[in-house]
Amino acid sequence: MTRFTVNDRPVQYRMDPDTPLLWALRDASNLTGTKYGCGTGDCGACTVDIDGEAIRSCQITIAQAEGRFVTTIEALSPDRSNPVQQAFVADNVPQCGFCTPGMIMAASVLLKKNRDPSDAQISAAITNLCRCGCYPRIHEAIKRAARILRGDEQVAAAPPPGITPQDAARAVPALRAP
Ligand code: FES
Ligand code: FES
Repeated sequence: MTRFTVNDRPVQYRMDPDTPLLWALRDASNLTGTKYGCGTGDCGACTVDIDGEAIRSCQITIAQAEGRFVTTIEALSPDRSNPVQQAFVADNVPQCGFCTPGMIMAASVLLKKNRDPSDAQISAAITNLCRCGCYPRIHEAIKRAARILRGDEQVAAAPPPGITPQDAARAVPALRAP
């Protein structure tokens, strides 16, 4: 039995301790916002926040996550109100969108440490891959999110999700209650 915290909720996984965290999140907890891209630690689509660090969840086992605090894209906000999410919407970042959750999680971790990152600092901190090549918009959105977090900019609220937070929580029990 492996125990740790996912999105502020204690979880116990009755799975092989060597199971990658990515599969526990997606298959056992139904937290499918975290994506499987390569499985080799290269793309960053599976990025989650573990104890304040951006970690590729395909590269850590649930045994290695024991006792730690894991946050996935589902817990950033129940209604897209997180500044990074708002900025990604305002800058129309996603093309296919597959890399977006991992990018947002990596950006969220960076912005907790650096509220005014330069392009070079963003490139150094976020090595996630975007096969659609949206890097210019990703950088602009991260700098916009930094301005929002500093109080230098406000953006209109992102459109509401197509599913209410209550219905999403019913469909995905591991979601943090709104
Ligand atoms: S799926 Fe984990 S880094 Fe690509
Ligand atoms: S938007 Fe398609 S991979 Fe980044």
